[in-house]
Amino acid sequence: MNVFVLLIFIATVLSQGLDLSKFLQHDYHFTIERADVHHYDKRYMNYLQAVPFKCNRTHVALNGTLNFKINVGSELVVMVQMYRFASNEYRLFPVRFQDKFCKFLEENVAGFQRLLNCGNFVGCPVVSNTNITVCNFIPDDSKLPPLIPSGSYKVNLHGFYSDNELFVLEIYGKITRPEVK
Ligand SMILES: *[C@@H]1O[C@H](CO)[C@@H](O)[C@H](O)[C@H]1NC(C)=O
Ligand SMILES: *[C@@H]1O[C@H](CO)[C@@H](O)[C@H](O)[C@H]1NC(C)=O
Ligand SMILES: *[C@@H]1O[C@H](CO)[C@@H](O)[C@H](O)[C@H]1NC(C)=O
Repeated sequence: MNVFVLLIFIATVLSQGLDLSKFLQHDYHFTIERADVHHYDKRYMNYLQAVPFKCNRTHVALNGTLNFKINVGSELVVMVQMYRFASNEYRLFPVRFQDKFCKFLEENVAGFQRLLNCGNFVGCPVVSNTNITVCNFIPDDSKLPPLIPSGSYKVNLHGFYSDNELFVLEIYGKITRPEVK
């Protein structure tokens, strides 16, 4: 399949009412390289921190602390926009989707349920004025959208609450495929 056909296919899959059960694949690996809090809005959040660290020779894990000033409850929306590295810069890549954070958690997209394994995050609804800590998070790449081409990516997670952007988290990582022998 050429890349153009592939991209149309991905866009079609993702635009059909975002069926998160389609986020299932065993074709590529996604590994985080680093992560940054691009910004957060102090009107809505007391605090947002992301601490990436090397947990072994090949993997980077994330620790983080979130603290919302407002009661986002189950209404926090996360919009994901991918950028692919090409010709020396990260360029807009046509993979973009959004849903409620609690839906992503329920469907275990990217292995988000692992966030419940470490730290004090106990799930939805998200509480306000409390340090929510998450730790040792490594995404489950089998729970990501299928068919994304190999390469270096920036994945921006935009947090929204009723049309207000609360934060932007930038995750840098690589998509690789096992070598075909
Ligand atoms: C590093 O940790 C990840 C996640 O726990 C694991 O999948 C991987 O096999 C580990 N790699 C090595 C070289 O230990
Ligand atoms: C919440 O987290 C921030 C940043 O890590 C820290 O400075 C603050 O002391 C923490 N507050 C509580 C109550 O743990
Ligand atoms: C990540 O969080 C875990 C659990 O709180 C802690 O043991 C570890 O030291 C943290 N790592 C970094 C690099 O902050």
